[in-house]
Amino acid sequence: MDAAPHIVRTRVGIVGGGPAGLMLSHLLATSGIDNVVVEKRSHEAIENTHRAGILEHGSVRMLTESGVSNRVITDGDKHDGIDLRFGGVSHRIDFDALVGESVWLYPQNQVFVDLAAARRRDDGDVRFSVTDTEVLDLTTDTPKIRFTDVQGRRVELHCDFVVGADGSSSMCRRAIPATLRQGHFIEYPFAWFGILTEAPRSAPELIYANSPHGFALISQRNETVQRMYFQADPNEDAAAWSEERIWDELQRRVDGPDGLELKRGPIFEQMILKFRSYVCEPLRHGNLFLAGDAGHTVPPTGAKGLNLALADVRVLFEALDSFYSTGSSTLLDGYSETALKRVWKAQNFSYWMTSMLHTRSEASSFERKRALGELDSVVSSTYGRAYLAEAYTGWSHG
Ligand code: PHB
Repeated sequence: MDAAPHIVRTRVGIVGGGPAGLMLSHLLATSGIDNVVVEKRSHEAIENTHRAGILEHGSVRMLTESGVSNRVITDGDKHDGIDLRFGGVSHRIDFDALVGESVWLYPQNQVFVDLAAARRRDDGDVRFSVTDTEVLDLTTDTPKIRFTDVQGRRVELHCDFVVGADGSSSMCRRAIPATLRQGHFIEYPFAWFGILTEAPRSAPELIYANSPHGFALISQRNETVQRMYFQADPNEDAAAWSEERIWDELQRRVDGPDGLELKRGPIFEQMILKFRSYVCEPLRHGNLFLAGDAGHTVPPTGAKGLNLALADVRVLFEALDSFYSTGSSTLLDGYSETALKRVWKAQNFSYWMTSMLHTRSEASSFERKRALGELDSVVSSTYGRAYLAEAYTGWSHG
């Protein structure tokens, strides 16, 4: 017979030790609110998962001002603009001049490394590599998280609140009865082929390119490692592509009269990234709150995923902090609505960038020409460029 679970009492139990879960844990700790994080993956597995790399100014401030780390400033790169490229011509969107803001290129796995280090430094209770996690009693005053820890002990966390920050395939979200949540989603008929390469930068800033052959994104990691993507079929076998074929495909999507030439180097990672737009409403069930990818996912074209997760965490932290300092649950009651306002703005922006920049293989000549008209109307208007700049760098309010 199984031994009785070891019972641990905490205020906030957080399922998921990615950036959203750890950021919330850190903020709660700064307010003296006891919390425990459980995560099924190992620290090493998360550290080695490559995701997007753009942080809004608000996300950067959150990391630095809350005392996580300044590494995003010292090791990351500030970017004051991007290039939108179509018809073989680049058009710079100057964020700094248009809206007075910038973004930082700093990979998501480094955000995780910084957050995990800060929780360790501050004696946070973060348990990696747990198994058989389940959540229960969510609509009672004592919601619980049960799991088996890395030593094989069965543990039951008794909480005031449970937060599901457990990513897009969220177990917490699925614990909400299907009749009490609504899922809104769309699939896209394409995916991204992503590579990491050992090569110098091909351009000073990111290039988002629309071409008759499909979309390409020329991103970066540092002086010697670069990240690039190109639109591909979701069922493409990434491993079957030779380096030469990948480089030729990327190059023809940025070809133009300016002679832009990608700097090639050995490719050490190549994979297909599928994506969809998804929102779960509401983001709350009883005393369970969803944050980040557990509640919504966006296609990567707008670089919003991690930033939205951190924006949720800010709203949720303020609500929990207000509850523990004043006893009022007003902000908690408003969490889902407040967070979803920003989520839907980001959904719109991500959808817009995705549909404007990608080309469906079966698109008619009308659709292709219309998309070029749309791109032209953005770059040839100060207001168009400012809309893009404001959304990309992150709305300051709401
Ligand atoms: C990345 O560098 O991985 C990256 C940058 C911008 C995006 C998506 C991914 O929109």
